[in-house]
Amino acid sequence: MSTITKNPKESFTIMNELVLPNDTNTLNNLMGGRLLHWMDIAAAISAQKHCNNIVVTASVDNVSFKHAIKLGDVITIEAVVTRAFSTSMEVRLDVWAENIPSGTRIKSNEAFYTFVAIDADGKTVAVPEITPESEIENKLFEGALRRRQLRLILAGKMKADDATELKALFFNNN
Ligand SMILES: CC(C)(COP(=O)(O)OP(=O)(O)OC[C@H]1O[C@@H](n2cnc3c(N)ncnc32)[C@H](O)[C@@H]1OP(=O)(O)O)[C@@H](O)C(=O)NCCC(=O)NCCS
Repeated sequence: MSTITKNPKESFTIMNELVLPNDTNTLNNLMGGRLLHWMDIAAAISAQKHCNNIVVTASVDNVSFKHAIKLGDVITIEAVVTRAFSTSMEVRLDVWAENIPSGTRIKSNEAFYTFVAIDADGKTVAVPEITPESEIENKLFEGALRRRQLRLILAGKMKADDATELKALFFNNN
């Protein structure tokens, strides 16, 4: 772990996109893959701001598409690093779809992406620690440990038995 400590606000990123015909399916709704791509870019910018390094996407947690986003809508993606580990960072994403002529704005997605800092040879690099400040930043920071264990188990990189935080969530009645 690097000796520098940063706070989540330093990685906060906002990205806007206008849904154009080339982004949509035959129903004139935004293609899910296009949204995931934009989310990946916003999250990568956020992770880079945190570590001042090249980053690669290591994983994308389950993303559900609750509402169709229409042609002409404006997408706003907010990304922020919730927690940094040794070389990886968890990024929280919140996505809104706004129809400016009708004045409607809906929350369309939430997700967590994980990025790993690497050097020019593809070798992993230590990232700065993060110190959460607000209540919500602290809540996201605490939960990041459990989410990390879950995604590493699903990726076959951690044994369920070693996922102490996750087990505590299911087996502690406190
Ligand atoms: C992500 C990557 C750098 C991990 O490399 P690796 O040799 O498996 O490295 P390690 O097992 O030592 O893990 C390094 C870090 O990645 C994290 N990691 C690895 N796989 C992960 C996964 N599936 N989900 C979340 N984090 C993961 C580890 O937890 C570790 O984090 P830490 O150092 O903070 O503890 C490597 O798999 C890679 O380069 N993947 C391709 C990335 C890419 O091209 N992305 C775009 C896809 S098109």
